[in-house]
Amino acid sequence: MDLGIVGRKAIVCASSKGLGRACAEELARAGCEVVINGRNRDALEAAAAELRRATGARVSAVAADVGTAEGQQALLAACPEPDILVNNNSGPPFRDFRELTRQQMLDGVIANMVAAIELTQKVIDPMVRRRFGRIVNITSGTTKMPLAGLDLSSGARAGLTAFMAGVARSVAASNVTVNFLLPGAFDTDRLRSNIEANARKQGISYDAAAQQRVASIPAKRFGTTAEFGAACAFLCSAQAGFITGQNILLDGGAYPGTF
Ligand SMILES: NC(=O)c1ccc[n+]([C@@H]2O[C@H](COP(=O)([O-])OP(=O)(O)OC[C@H]3O[C@@H](n4cnc5c(N)ncnc54)[C@H](OP(=O)(O)O)[C@@H]3O)[C@@H](O)[C@H]2O)c1
Repeated sequence: MDLGIVGRKAIVCASSKGLGRACAEELARAGCEVVINGRNRDALEAAAAELRRATGARVSAVAADVGTAEGQQALLAACPEPDILVNNNSGPPFRDFRELTRQQMLDGVIANMVAAIELTQKVIDPMVRRRFGRIVNITSGTTKMPLAGLDLSSGARAGLTAFMAGVARSVAASNVTVNFLLPGAFDTDRLRSNIEANARKQGISYDAAAQQRVASIPAKRFGTTAEFGAACAFLCSAQAGFITGQNILLDGGAYPGTF
């Protein structure tokens, strides 16, 4: 399927590996110029080189923390008027909510809510003027189905979702869409470290903890990053202009509700 976005400019935050990287790769394959991002410069440059090799696209790399003002400035300096913005960041570590300090809670809200809003503020008006914009926020299935220990992550992302729901309607008439991708369990380093932590907590092996997790997913497997990237690229396509304000679960059927 031709996604109709050849030559579009995309910023994909937190994308040197995992879900963000898969989104960057699919957008690059669809013909976009892509800015990728991560804090570790070497890993980021290596990812950019691989993406260029794999897709032939123009890929630039901005080594920066997306949660900071300087990091956001650096991203926008590399691509001042993106057509596509994929908001992503790392999530807070697993922690019993009783142990969270005030500062940790504020940091979590900045990382998983405020940063995405700040970047959106900076890119949305030029999108409205050009009458094309696609904003995809990577949040989490835990915004709909909580997971103990990820309460801060779930809460901050639910806040982002509610905030952006109004923003989405305010720009819909200008062919600017704002949507949310809610990953369940995808095979990335983040998932592996969560499984490791769970295995340690229960005193069981990594494989046993991974099997427990897989058993709870109707699809009986973890998602692949390629599946996630393809969903993101479709939401960024020309054809997806009538889809906005939507929370799309990619979880192999794990969420048990009908709606
Ligand atoms: N994988 C899953 O199953 C799953 C499920 C639900 C939700 N999620 C959420 O989806 C998001 C992506 O997860 P993932 O599994 O793709 O993680 P991942 O494999 O650990 O990759 C995270 C990527 O983000 C970059 N990054 C992290 N913090 C950053 C920052 N402050 N500024 C810029 N770049 C940053 C990392 O590079 P550097 O470390 O070099 O910065 C890396 O490229 C996370 O918020 C996660 O909580 C994932």
